Amino acid sequence: MQKISLPQASKLTSPNPVTVVCTEKPDGTTNLATVSWWTYLSFKSNMIAYAMAKTSYSGEMVRNNKKVILTIPGTKIADAVMGCGSTTGRDTDKVSKFNIELADVEGSSIKIPAHSRVAIVCSMKEYHEVGDHYLYICDVEQVYGNESEEALFAWNGYSQLRPAK
Ligand SMILES: Cc1cc2nc3c(=O)[nH]c(=O)nc-3n(C[C@H](O)[C@H](O)[C@H](O)COP(=O)(O)O)c2cc1C
Repeated sequence: MQKISLPQASKLTSPNPVTVVCTEKPDGTTNLATVSWWTYLSFKSNMIAYAMAKTSYSGEMVRNNKKVILTIPGTKIADAVMGCGSTTGRDTDKVSKFNIELADVEGSSIKIPAHSRVAIVCSMKEYHEVGDHYLYICDVEQVYGNESEEALFAWNGYSQLRPAK
C-alpha cells in the first residue's frame, strides 16, 4: 500500500453517502445543504450524527433551534443537490434558485425535497468541535421512507452525484 491523504482516501471509498440537511430559517422557510459526512450511531435509542463546517449556515440554524431533518435525495434532483452543496443559505434561497419541489413532513415545520428516499426527523442533542467542523449528534424522532426513489451517492470523492449502480 502507499501513503495517501485523507481526501485521497475519500475517492477510494466512493461511492460515499449523500444527505440533504434540511433546517428552518428565521423566516420559517427551509434551507437545504448537501452533506456526505453522516452516520447512524445507535438503534436503541435511535441516534444519528453528521459533521458540517463551522461556517455553514445550516449549522447556525440547528444550533439555534435544535431542529433538523436529514434526507437521502433521489436521483431526479442530482443537479439541485449539487447546487445545494455549492451555495449558502446565508445569501441564497436554494429552494427557488434550484427549483426544488418541497413536501411537508408530519409533525415538523421543516419541509424536505419531494424526491427523497428517506427522511430522518431529528432533534439535535449536542454538538462537538472536530477540527474545522462541528459534529452534530441527534436524537431521531421519526423516520420516513419511499422505496420508489433511487438514492444518490457521491462519486470520485464528492465531485459527482449518481446512483450506486
Ligand atoms: C457532494 C457534496 C458533499 C458535501 N458534504 C459536506 C459535508 O459532509 N459537510 C460539510 O460541512 N459540507 C459538505 N458539503 C459542502 C456544503 O454543502 C456547502 O458548504 C454548503 O454551501 C453549505 O450550505 P449552508 O451554508 O447553507 O449550510 C458537501 C458538498 C457536496 C457537493
